[in-house]
Amino acid sequence: MLEVLAKEPEAEAVKAVVVETGPIPDDFQSLEAIASHISNCTNCGLCQERNSTVPGEGNGDSPDIMFIGEGPGAEEDAQGRPFVGKAGKLLDKMIEAMGYKREDVFIGNVVKCRPPANRKPLPEEMEMCLPYLRQQIRLIKPKIIVGLGGTAMEGLLGKPVGITRMRGVWQEYAGIKLMPTFHPSYLLRDPSKKKDAWADLKMVLTELGKEPPSRK
Ligand code: URA
Repeated sequence: MLEVLAKEPEAEAVKAVVVETGPIPDDFQSLEAIASHISNCTNCGLCQERNSTVPGEGNGDSPDIMFIGEGPGAEEDAQGRPFVGKAGKLLDKMIEAMGYKREDVFIGNVVKCRPPANRKPLPEEMEMCLPYLRQQIRLIKPKIIVGLGGTAMEGLLGKPVGITRMRGVWQEYAGIKLMPTFHPSYLLRDPSKKKDAWADLKMVLTELGKEPPSRK
């Protein structure tokens, strides 16, 4: 069952957050079961050109952090794993700078199949794929979600967002604190924004009761 929660904004106008409610469906009881559904999914056109589905990976047992990106690129589509290309290498560095290893966190995406030419997923593609992410979050129970870029935030909050204005401002998804920050691909294009992203990640560490390391 879906519930649309009316929500008062902290900074930006967050009007509606869509969450799954009620019992977790029988065939979505584990991350493996969800991944199996995803691997057979033909709910949208993205299935036609994919080489692999990319359900996400990492610590699925209440990790401190779940990172959520937009969707697989070429390398992810080839390997069936999230964030393994250039942006992924930067995400790995960000995770390590926070004092974690990649396997300590969960890394997922709003859409699980590669959009052609890495275009932004269409609203209808996100709509069809989001139930997987919503059920994954229910099973994973991360302490904090980090939304990487505007598309991830749009998927979670159910409305287009301006990431430049929203980044660094705590949001909430299904009772879980949600920190928006820049997508690593954007940081590769504009490294001057890395200090903003690091400030956001330090807020995450502080919220988790961890001492932020003093390096970027
Ligand atoms: N960009 C994303 O948003 N997700 C990936 O998995 C890889 C690149």
